[in-house]
Amino acid sequence: MNWEKVILITGGAGFIGSHVVRLFVKSYPNYRVVNFDKLTYAGNLENLKDIENATNYEFVKGDICEIDDIIDVFEKYKVTDVIHLAAESHVDRSISGPMEFVLSNVVGTVNLMNVAKNVWKLIDNNVFYHISTDEVYGSLGDIGYFKETTSYDPRSPYSASKASSDHFVRAYFHTYNFPIKISNCSNNYGSYQFPEKLIPLMIHNAVNKKDLPIYGNGLNIRDWLWVEDHANAIDLIFHKGKIGETYNIGGLNEWTNINLVKKIANIIDEKLGRQAGETEKQITFIKDRAGHDKRYAIDASKIESELGWTPSIDFETGLNNTIDWYLNNSEWLEKVISGDYQSYYENQYLNRD
Ligand code: NAD
Ligand code: TYD
Repeated sequence: MNWEKVILITGGAGFIGSHVVRLFVKSYPNYRVVNFDKLTYAGNLENLKDIENATNYEFVKGDICEIDDIIDVFEKYKVTDVIHLAAESHVDRSISGPMEFVLSNVVGTVNLMNVAKNVWKLIDNNVFYHISTDEVYGSLGDIGYFKETTSYDPRSPYSASKASSDHFVRAYFHTYNFPIKISNCSNNYGSYQFPEKLIPLMIHNAVNKKDLPIYGNGLNIRDWLWVEDHANAIDLIFHKGKIGETYNIGGLNEWTNINLVKKIANIIDEKLGRQAGETEKQITFIKDRAGHDKRYAIDASKIESELGWTPSIDFETGLNNTIDWYLNNSEWLEKVISGDYQSYYENQYLNRD
């Protein structure tokens, strides 16, 4: 088969990566999609069962910290483009163990660019698209939004590692004319998210009558975007975004953690036929996260006006769909948490305060 493009999607077995892989495999039969993933605790091939036999899909187990793994996959598949999602992604883990974040997020990103830069002759319209987070911009007060021009001010080891990788990616564009694109997105939610992040953790604990642990006073604010809307934005930026440019992606959907968790609890009451207010009683306030960022909010006007992207579904629908998905996929959940999840969660937070 003469592939139009061969796209290496790193971190394709993770939460967002699996949605991006699925979208590209289904939408672009002329592209070969190579999912390159180390399969850490957060990566799971269960996330891609439905497309694993597609003729334009390949999985390669590999580590972006190992230069030989990267060279091998570039040589074997003649990679033409990269969409780079592989990363350590959980702020709490970055607080208890920052070095993994430096290695995968910073060193791994530079390794990938070095191989691509050596292999690509930069005459073939190659694209290296780096997926990043709004957390690089720091923390907002009660008003204001992160724009593409907002100065970087990362405050957790996770966001510092992502900010560092963003800087390297931009430096490669300016220094070597390396063909990069970057997007910075707000908090994603949806199916296949590992249940250590707020929404799937709360659903899982609510259903199982466990504590719903809120850090601090619960008034920290996040902007939530449905993961498939993020994947659609990535598709658009990959195809239509300009080389060298950055795009912010957000949901215009801000929630305090406490209100969001109450909403999840109320939906679970309805869906499981519990008495109104029953699940809320599981809420427990625990010691705050160190350096906990107060508020994130995105000004997504650039991607809206230049590329015509807006979120496709409202939060009510997205959250209900997500809760239904977790209720209907308890087997998936049991499989992905059979690793180090329980001990991590229990060691870090249960009974801490
Ligand atoms: P995730 O933790 O669910 O998945 C990360 C994937 O990367 C896993 O499959 C893991 O096995 C793989 N990986 C980790 N280290 C690797 C290495 N050294 N080599 C190869 N593979 C490795 O993460 P996610 O939530 O899907 O996030 C994906 C990307 O999007 C990350 O770069 C993250 O910073 C960014 N992002 C996430 C969010 C969010 O809300 N989750 C928001 C904005 C941006
Ligand atoms: P998280 O899903 O870890 O994403 P991020 O820290 O990258 O925004 O957390 C979202 C918010 O929820 C954040 O303000 C921390 C808070 N939180 C809790 O209150 N309890 C929890 O158990 C978790 C995992 C998060």
